[in-house]
Amino acid sequence: MNIYIKDIKEDNCYCDSLILPFTEGHSELYDRLSPSITKLIKRVLSKEFNGKQNEVLLVPAPDDIKSERIFFIGLGKKEDVSREKIRQAGGKAAAYLRDSGMKKIALSTSVLSSLNTSPADFIEGSLLGLYTFKKYMKEKNDKTIESVTILSRPSKRIKEDLYWVKTVASSVNFARDLVNTPANDMTPSHLAKVALSLKGKTLSVKILEKRDVQRLGMGSYLSVVKGSQEPPKFIILEYRGAKGSPVVLIGKTITFDSGGISLKPSEGMEKMKYDMAGGAAVLGIMKAVSELKLPVHIVGILPATENLPGSSATKPGDIVKAIDGKTIEVISTDAEGRMTLADAIGYSKRFKPKVIIDIATLTGACSIALGSGAIAMMGNDKEIIGKLKESGNNTYERVWEMPLFEEYKEYIKGDIADLKNTGGKSGSLVTSAYLLSEFAGDTPWVHLDIAGTAWVEKEKPYLPKGASGIGIRLILDFIKRG
Ligand code: BES
Ligand code: MN
Ligand code: ZN
Repeated sequence: MNIYIKDIKEDNCYCDSLILPFTEGHSELYDRLSPSITKLIKRVLSKEFNGKQNEVLLVPAPDDIKSERIFFIGLGKKEDVSREKIRQAGGKAAAYLRDSGMKKIALSTSVLSSLNTSPADFIEGSLLGLYTFKKYMKEKNDKTIESVTILSRPSKRIKEDLYWVKTVASSVNFARDLVNTPANDMTPSHLAKVALSLKGKTLSVKILEKRDVQRLGMGSYLSVVKGSQEPPKFIILEYRGAKGSPVVLIGKTITFDSGGISLKPSEGMEKMKYDMAGGAAVLGIMKAVSELKLPVHIVGILPATENLPGSSATKPGDIVKAIDGKTIEVISTDAEGRMTLADAIGYSKRFKPKVIIDIATLTGACSIALGSGAIAMMGNDKEIIGKLKESGNNTYERVWEMPLFEEYKEYIKGDIADLKNTGGKSGSLVTSAYLLSEFAGDTPWVHLDIAGTAWVEKEKPYLPKGASGIGIRLILDFIKRG
């Protein structure tokens, strides 16, 4: 979808549909338009449209208006309008107009600017809401919106904001594609190729093969690798837009989680292709950071592998040694994510990180606790936790802090090894994080569990069913704000 900015009045825009946003019960900002539009608005507002949040109405335009149709979209009560509601309106409007066959659309910004909100938020919602995944379908729905024209003065601010949301949304959609792609195609090797395709002047990519990680002593990560025929890939990306110690981002990258010998029930197992959503988010962030040329130093790590049963697979009760020398007893081979993250965190220490953020579909308990409403967050650094909370509110990829009380150590303290990989069902959202904290040690570190938010079961205005691409907007906002 091409985005244009044009400084013309609403009645004067040639397009298939002109979008007019409304807050509940207010239309006065459109009174300055032609009498025929004002009349139409009055008629519609008396019956079929109130301006409630995400309410829509598409009607033919009066003859003296250049646009063919007028599209009403509700923003809800004036006093409750927020950036998130604007994003949702953008998502709802764009998908509705696309499905109605509109190709060229235009957006009136008078109501948005009167509310001190940016049309960029509306466009962000549109770009995210228009996402579809049709790669595997013979018959593709070819309805697409070709262009949106924003009716506004083309200020530097609006151009910058639009460039940001365009780049970020395309990274989110790029990550969604990776996550939606089934595990027979989305193998660790494929992800390594994708990572290499991001290589650039300031972005370097290194892939460690199985023999390399063996040499490094990543026995914890390798314990997950063992059951699979697919070669593992330990993927490292480094973006150098500034000097100084980096922010390290680690994404859980299990391209399929069957549970291993501790096999999962078959119902719903097909969804375990999304167990690499953390890794996809990290790739999306690296892509955006380098396209936006941000003045930062970021390292991204994806310890990619499948988790499968087989005659060479790790067995419950096996004890393995992680890169930092700690031993772990594998109580459940289905608690595999933390095994891969433990070594990735251990490995990342060589970069002397100023902070490590890991993002992972780590526990079923996360979605039991918070559903799709929030990312669970735990960590050892109050300041970074506070900043992530702010970024969560800005982007509406909201985080909720869970405790890491030292008493949780009891759950994962080993009986015959240093640690065990699970302390059982009770408290597993926090005890899984506690295990990771043992590997982070004194390095500032935050863990984000996205098990409840990475997959959309019930679509929302800018979240189509399937992969959500969560974490990218959150962490980019955090990085941007420094
Ligand atoms: N990938 C799963 C967690 C998960 C479950 C993500 C559902 C998304 C939706 C993870 O590897 C796992 O299996 N966790 C187990 C751990 C348990 C064996 C201690 C869980 O949470 O049940
Ligand atoms: Mn698992
Ligand atoms: Zn998993």
